Order: sequence, then C-alpha cells, then structure tokens
Amino acid sequence: MGNYFPVKSSQNTAMKPPSTNFLNAGNSSLKLKTTFQFCFFFMVLFIWSCVGAWAANDESTRNLIENQCSSCHKFEGKHESKFNLKGPDLMWAGNKYQRPWLIRWLTGKEENLYPNGFRWDISRDQIKHPVLSEAVANDVADYFEKHFLDSRIKKSFVDLSTFTEQESQFGAAIFKEFSCLGCHQIKEDGKKIGGPISANLYDSGNRYNLDWWSKFAENPQNFTPHSGEYLADLSMLGARYIIGYLMTLGVEDFKYFEPWKAEPFQKADVKRGATVYREYCVQCHGPQGGGDGPGASGLEPKPAVHAKMDLNEFPEDYLYNLVYYGGKTVGKSPNMPDWGMTIGEQGVADVIAYMQETFKTGEAVSDDPGKKAQGDCPQKRNTKTVSFKYSNRKNPLEPTPANLKAGEALYQKTAKPMACKLCHGKLGDGKGPGGAGVKPAPRNFTCQATMQEISDGQMFGVIKAGSPGTAMPAFKNLKDKEVWQLILYIRSFSK
Ligand code: HEC
Ligand code: HEC
Ligand code: HEC
Ligand code: HEC
Repeated sequence: MGNYFPVKSSQNTAMKPPSTNFLNAGNSSLKLKTTFQFCFFFMVLFIWSCVGAWAANDESTRNLIENQCSSCHKFEGKHESKFNLKGPDLMWAGNKYQRPWLIRWLTGKEENLYPNGFRWDISRDQIKHPVLSEAVANDVADYFEKHFLDSRIKKSFVDLSTFTEQESQFGAAIFKEFSCLGCHQIKEDGKKIGGPISANLYDSGNRYNLDWWSKFAENPQNFTPHSGEYLADLSMLGARYIIGYLMTLGVEDFKYFEPWKAEPFQKADVKRGATVYREYCVQCHGPQGGGDGPGASGLEPKPAVHAKMDLNEFPEDYLYNLVYYGGKTVGKSPNMPDWGMTIGEQGVADVIAYMQETFKTGEAVSDDPGKKAQGDCPQKRNTKTVSFKYSNRKNPLEPTPANLKAGEALYQKTAKPMACKLCHGKLGDGKGPGGAGVKPAPRNFTCQATMQEISDGQMFGVIKAGSPGTAMPAFKNLKDKEVWQLILYIRSFSK
C-alpha cells in the first residue's frame, strides 16, 4: 500500500549532525574602544557582563554535558546500534521532549523509562540516573534547545486541536494490532500492561514533542535501528490515529475535539439533509424510514426502523460516530456503512439534522398512553452465562451515595458509546428510545423477579463483553470500578 506520508520518505537522507557547533559554542567576545562616552561605556559594560554571564553559563553547561553526560549519551554523529550505547541518543534532545518533562527527568522526579534497563543485555537493573538541580536542569534544557536540534524534524502533519476521542480509540486499536504493546507498556485501568522491553509509553503525551514523535513514526530506522515498530502500511489517517493517540497518554483531561459542536453542525440544513438521506440512506432504511429499503432484505440485523425511533433522544456524539465511522465503531452491525468520507462533515451534520427533525415520535417507545411504561415482568433472559473469568466476581463496592451517584451519571449520561438509559430507559424499565423494536428487548431492571436471578459477576461480564447477537453492546472502555458503580445503581431500580 505504499508509504502513508505524502512527502518523500527520508529513509535514505543522510543525517546532518545537529550539533556541529557543539565544541565551539559560546565564544563571544566584546571589544571596547577607549574613546567611548561615559554613559555609553556603562551601558556596554552592563551588556557585556550579561553576555559574559550567559556565555559562562553556556560554557559551564557545555562542560557539564561533556564531563557528566557524554560518557553515556551521544550528542553528535549518526545513530547506531543500541548495543554500542550506554544511554539513549541525545543528538535530537532539543526537539524530542516537552520541556517540563525534561526538567522533571533531569531533577530526578520521573520514573525510569526502561523497566528492564536500557541495556537489558548487560544488566536488568534500573540505573540511578544523575540528578541535577532545578537551575542546572534549566541550563541544560536551554543548551539542548540551542545546540541539539535535528534539522529533519518539521512541523507535524497531525493537528491535535482537531483530534477526537473516537480517533484516539482507533489509535489504541492500532497500538495493539501493530504489536506496539508487545514491547512498550501503557496503562489500562491504571495498571501497566504490555511487554517491558523498550521505553514505556504511558506518559508519552507529557513527554514527547509532537513533531519529533511524528518524524520518528515516519521511519524509526532513522533514529534507532532496533525499534520493532512498523507502520509503513498504514494509511495517512491511520498514522494520524496512532500518532495522536500516543500524545493523549498520561495527559489528564486531554481536550478532545468535538465535531458535533463545530461549525458544520451549527449551520446544518434539514433540506440538504433530506437530499442526503434520499441518496444514501433510503436504499436500506426506506423512503419513510420504515427500514424497508430495497437493500434491506438480505441484512441481519435489519436496518433500523427510523420511523419508530426518537432520534432526538440519541446523544449527538453517538449519532456522529455512527454515521461518520459506521455501525461497527459503536457496537452495531458493520452493514451500517461509514459515511464520513463520502458525504463529508457537512453532509453528516445535515443528515443528522434531517433525521432528528423527521424521526422524533418514537411510536413504539411511548406505548399505550395512560398505561405506565413498564417492561415485561418477569422477563425472559436471552443472555448467556458469562465466562468464568467474570462469573464468580463479587462487587467490592458499597452502595454509598457517592458510588450510586457515579453509577447514575454513567447510566443516564456519560457511558460510551452510549448511555444505558438509551435502551434500558430513564426509569430502568427497559423502554428507552434505542430499545424500541429491538429483539430481544433490553433488560427491565425494575423487575425484581428477574433481577434477583442475575449475579453481580453475570452483570459485570455482560457489561464488559456485551451480549453478542443482541443490541447489548460491550462497554470495553469502562473501568472496573465504573462497572461496579453501574451495577449498584442498576440494583437500586428493583429495591
Ligand atoms: C551512567 C550513564 C549515564 C549518564 C552519566 C547520564 N545518563 Fe542520561 N540516561 C542514561 C540511561 C541508561 C537512560 C535511560 C534510563 C531509563 O529510563 O531507563 C538515560 C536517559 C536520559 C534521558 C531521557 C532519554 C530518552 O529516553 O529520551 C535524558 C534526557 C538524559 N538521560 C540526559 C542526561 C544528561 C543531561 C546527563 C548529564 C547530566 C545524563 N543523562 C547522564 C544513562 C546516563
Ligand atoms: C520488537 C519490539 C518493538 C515493537 C513491536 C515496537 N517497538 Fe517501539 N521501540 C522499540 C525499541 C527497541 C526502540 C528504541 C528504544 C530502545 O532502545 O528501547 C523503540 C522506540 C520507540 C519509540 C521512541 C522511544 C524513545 O523515547 O526514544 C516510540 C515512540 C515507539 N518505539 C513507538 C512504537 C509504536 C507506536 C509501535 C507499534 C507501531 C512500536 N513502537 C513497536 C521496540 C519495539
Ligand atoms: C447498506 C445498508 C445501509 C445503508 C445504506 C444505511 N444504513 Fe443505517 N443501518 C443499517 C443497518 C443494518 C442498521 C442496524 C444496525 C444494527 O442494528 O446493528 C442501521 C442503523 C442505523 C441507525 C440506528 C442506529 C441505532 O443505534 O439503532 C441510524 C441512525 C442509521 N442507520 C443512519 C443511517 C444514515 C444517516 C444513512 C445514510 C447516510 C444510513 N444509515 C445508511 C444499514 C444501512
Ligand atoms: C443499544 C441498546 C443497549 C444499551 C445502550 C445498553 N444495553 Fe444493556 N441490554 C440490552 C439488551 C437488548 C439486553 C438483553 C440482552 C439479552 O437478553 O441477551 C441487555 C441486557 C443487559 C443486562 C442484563 C444481563 C443479563 O444477564 O440478564 C445488563 C446488566 C445490562 N444490559 C446493563 C447495561 C448497562 C450498564 C448499560 C450501559 C453502560 C447498557 N446495558 C446499555 C441493550 C442495551
């Protein structure tokens, strides 16, 4: 499939030593003429002393690096086998790190990066790295930024300000699919996972400079001959996903871009949306949203019956991801295609506006008026018994107000790809708008007779892994604790 980067691969570009002036930096000198006027003399004296102090700093930092660092790190020349090195190469140290991380590292406030030691072939012990004072660390960082810039590194093609949470999830999938996890650790549910043979990456969003990491990803061989990373057969988009994903790791509250709040959605047009719907959706969903388009007959599960849904009740991020990236990204049938590339951001915004304007009755949802919305009770369960891995687990949490509240928030609002209430209903009765017409029906949590036969472990397993062949999706990205909180909340419906 060729290289994913539009620019010519720099694989064969000879590397320019980024630090040609490493050994003769900071030799500025000032000459004074004796005929200068009095005050001018003082001005010059002042400037001179500043420059002098700075030059001395530069000079002493250079000495420090030469005497205390270069015995283990290379600051010049070409990269080579790590088995000839004592520490990671630093020829590009001026482009590689985010400064706050670098200062923390140099002042001894960071964990080791190599769980088995950088040279695991010699010793598995983690080294005690030299520690600098805050002031000297800042001098070193200044020096790096001035002298150890790698001219190959250009502005990244990835714009993090438009990076979405869904894209990050695609990146996470690539991280596993391309064996990255085999050699680099990340954190899942707060626990370290993955092979510990190279640098850990769970904090990489606070560590790397995006431009350096993008260039590295383009062809790791240009930086180290030993990386097992191979991304050359990724598309340009795939490269964006994995590069962006690493930049989110360890970053608290990474500000994901939310397309459904952006301009195309503000100027969405129902009329234009009707045209999109006619041209792209009717073939399966039918002209009136009856799920009876000519393409529907061979499909299982059947295309959704929009006419029976209240699409205003569906969260916008869910609808966006469903229509833009297709059914499989939100745990639905892959036969619901991805439309983003075909109809574009504006087309997606328009067709969602059209659907929300047109399909808001949710006929099947409201039931007979007057009759209290209540699912069957007792209810027939189709869910299979979950695997042993889950089934014998017990809820470690108490139904404290805090836990119930956390469970409620997830259930009613924040769980991804969609909130539970969408199917199980605001009141837990299994009558949510997304559950209408779904067979088997979502569980009715208000039904005590049914609920008391479901163990905590069973619920835990179904929530984590879904119920294949039914509408119940897998909530893979919920943390264990969150699942337990949800279970406490769900149980409160039948009390
Ligand atoms: C005894 C050898 C040794 C000396 C001396 C040494 N380092 Fe290191 N350095 C290492 C090793 C090994 C690592 C990787 C450690 C780990 O995290 O497992 C490292 C990591 C680093 C890193 C992070 C590299 C990366 O992975 O991107 C920086 C930056 C760094 N050192 C700077 C310095 C500076 C500045 C000095 C001098 C003040 C210095 N080092 C002195 C061995 C050394
Ligand atoms: C076979 C093991 C292996 C696999 C698989 C692997 N890597 Fe690496 N990676 C390395 C080694 C070795 C290095 C060089 C650093 C070192 O000496 O450990 C490296 C370096 C890196 C670095 C730079 C580390 C630093 O701070 O200098 C990043 C980032 C990285 N890899 C990301 C990835 C990604 C993303 C993938 C998956 C597409 C991947 N790696 C797959 C072994 C591996
Ligand atoms: C090739 C057939 C096909 C086409 C064309 C198609 N869909 Fe779908 N769509 C499906 C199927 C199948 C499902 C049911 C997925 C499931 O239940 O797992 C579905 C489900 C949906 C749902 C409901 C999702 C839910 O959570 O229940 C919406 C909304 C939707 N499609 C919107 C659209 C829009 C908008 C278009 C046009 C831009 C479109 N579809 C075009 C096959 C199609
Ligand atoms: C798209 C609709 C849908 C959403 C969203 C949904 N569920 Fe379900 N859920 C179902 C369906 C359908 C069933 C019944 C499956 C079956 O009988 O096989 C079910 C069953 C269950 C069960 C019963 C398991 C058993 O063994 O009886 C639990 C517990 C559950 N869901 C929890 C949740 C939680 C928690 C959430 C939100 C994090 C959620 N569900 C979101 C559709 C949904």
